[in-house]
Amino acid sequence: MKIMVVGGGGREHAIIKKLKENKNISEIFALPGNGGIARDAVCINISATDIKKIAEFAVQNKIDYAVVAPDDPLVLGAVDALEEKGIPCFGPKANAAIIEGSKVFSKDLMKKYGIPTAGYEVFNDMEKALSYLETAPIPTVIKADGLALGKGVIIAQTREEAKAAVKSMMEDKVFGKSGDNIVIEEFLTGPEVSVLSFTDGKTVVPMISSMDHKRAGDNDTGLNTGGMGTIAPNPYYTEAVAKECMEKIFLPTINAMNSEGRTFKGCLYFGLMLTEKGPKVIEYNCRFGDPETQVVLPLLESDLLTVMQAVTNGTLAETEVKFSKKNAACVIMASQGYPKSYEKGFEINIPDELLSTTYVAGAALKDGKTVTNGGRVLGVTAVGDSLKQAIDKAYGNVEKISFKNAYYRRDIGAKALKAGKE
Ligand code: AMP
Ligand code: GLY
Repeated sequence: MKIMVVGGGGREHAIIKKLKENKNISEIFALPGNGGIARDAVCINISATDIKKIAEFAVQNKIDYAVVAPDDPLVLGAVDALEEKGIPCFGPKANAAIIEGSKVFSKDLMKKYGIPTAGYEVFNDMEKALSYLETAPIPTVIKADGLALGKGVIIAQTREEAKAAVKSMMEDKVFGKSGDNIVIEEFLTGPEVSVLSFTDGKTVVPMISSMDHKRAGDNDTGLNTGGMGTIAPNPYYTEAVAKECMEKIFLPTINAMNSEGRTFKGCLYFGLMLTEKGPKVIEYNCRFGDPETQVVLPLLESDLLTVMQAVTNGTLAETEVKFSKKNAACVIMASQGYPKSYEKGFEINIPDELLSTTYVAGAALKDGKTVTNGGRVLGVTAVGDSLKQAIDKAYGNVEKISFKNAYYRRDIGAKALKAGKE
């Protein structure tokens, strides 16, 4: 079989490595892939958002199955375009990907169907938003409606900060049209859990839970990033919490999307906060999370392609999705200065024995060498019988990988370890 994976980050590398365990797959193409993915797939220089070229490539190369991994091509309708050409796909159509593509849509969906989330107001008029902020409870959370490269959420600790955030989105248009509408949301507190799930629109199968570490610095300090590391499973996500989430959040969301005529097929990501009043949805993503995928898929014991095809064919209920009882940790090695400015082009050295568990996010090939080409450069994953073992192993492996100006957090999983002991 010939498979095509759209995207080019660590998440896509993890998906490709897992797919490769299936011996029926003869070839995997990555569009565009990256310098590290090139070891595991044929990288094709087509941008993940060039929907027309992606569909043309799939037809010309007789692709048997396509996986669309990132949010933007999904929101832009990559799956619709591929299915029109008769290519079976993993991923939601555009009318369902809107669950991530528009925060106003997802908040209104949750309100309409009684799915627990933070209280909120929507604004399309800056003056009204500013006057609302005169009396809104502080801290408050300002969210741009549309996709904003993961930067469209601002937690404002003061009224002034909140107003500045509104102005930056609605007046200065820092996120372009994504800031035409904004959501102002109640600030919630509690441990965060990421739950990725497979769904064919009828059945929802949660994968193993995980915990992201979004801030750049140790002890959750510094700027928000795309994610500096992950662990799985998340110790806060007990069986009781999982049951409550299934009843109050997962199934109601799938049913709500069906009722709206927007059946969701693919990976639906639930970003949850476990508040004193129960689990609440912080965000939905219409895709696998990054770097959650780098700890979740290594624990998947079932064949990924089989599960993905069951999602496409609507046969998920009859398909086994089994996870290992072990633990996984992923430490992101980034370029010094990320998420602000950083240098690129430094040679990356990964010992051969670590290639199978290192997921490359930002690298290019230059004169036959793999060099850094992004803020997040790679994710180093390890699996262990205990969380502590997985974390220690991952950090041990980080020590064996080198590139100039490498930066990583030293405390990935520390909070989870503490929580597990409580
Ligand atoms: P998002 O881009 O929606 O994942 O938001 C980024 C991060 O902002 C989340 O992972 C949370 O840590 C935080 N966040 C988002 N919404 C809220 C909220 N209503 N209350 C508290 N924190 C939030
Ligand atoms: N790790 C969070 C995300 O993928 O959006």
